[in-house]
Amino acid sequence: SATPAVIVAIDGPSGTGKSSTSKAVAARLGLSYLDTGAQYRAITWWMLNNGVDTADADAVAAAAGKPSIVSGTDPLSPAISADGADASGPIRTQEVTAAVSAVSAVPEVRERITGLQRTIAAEARGGIVVEGRDIGTTVLPDADLKVFLTASPEARAARRNGELKTADGTSVSDLAATQQALTARDRADSSRKTSPLKKADDAVEVDTTELTLEQVVECVVTLVEKAAAGK
Ligand code: DC
Repeated sequence: SATPAVIVAIDGPSGTGKSSTSKAVAARLGLSYLDTGAQYRAITWWMLNNGVDTADADAVAAAAGKPSIVSGTDPLSPAISADGADASGPIRTQEVTAAVSAVSAVPEVRERITGLQRTIAAEARGGIVVEGRDIGTTVLPDADLKVFLTASPEARAARRNGELKTADGTSVSDLAATQQALTARDRADSSRKTSPLKKADDAVEVDTTELTLEQVVECVVTLVEKAAAGK
């Protein structure tokens, strides 16, 4: 179907199905896709590998402009690199996950990454789905559609737990620990000074607790088609 070049912002905390939903919606409608969490993870990974103390905000700020961060925009094979090195695997490690909130709270990092995001969105001629925490509020306030995904803390921990795998491929089954880590990261992401996780006033909130991925995708596709028709 010929969907016009819509800009779609999908925000929300982790474990709400944000990435799966965003990729599926983009693929269904032939739109580009950008995972902004992956960009924050990639710059964090680069810093961990290059001797930057990620707990030291001044050191992080000084290094914010150094690595080149390049994102692919194909929803079927999302790719990301830092200084030319493929970062898609390593950005999902616990090490990166533990450090990314501190790194992404540093204003110089946000400025740098936000600039990349706006350039990518402006260059996506056929339209794009951009997922993150502050896309509707800060990065792309003029998006054609803003969606804010939520889910109960229990549902989010259960989903995130299903995604976490140990090195030998078995599931990590400490649900309580997962929920605790998730809650701590949410608190950090929602309470930081610069561009916190927050629903935009004009975002459509979708509670995914009782919905399957297919149902959420269906719902968002309908919202995109409506937004596209109104353009
Ligand atoms: O969605 P994710 O778990 O891959 O995101 C990783 C971290 O990046 C998350 O803890 C907060 C940060 N982030 C952000 O601050 N702003 C965004 N637009 C996306 C992610």
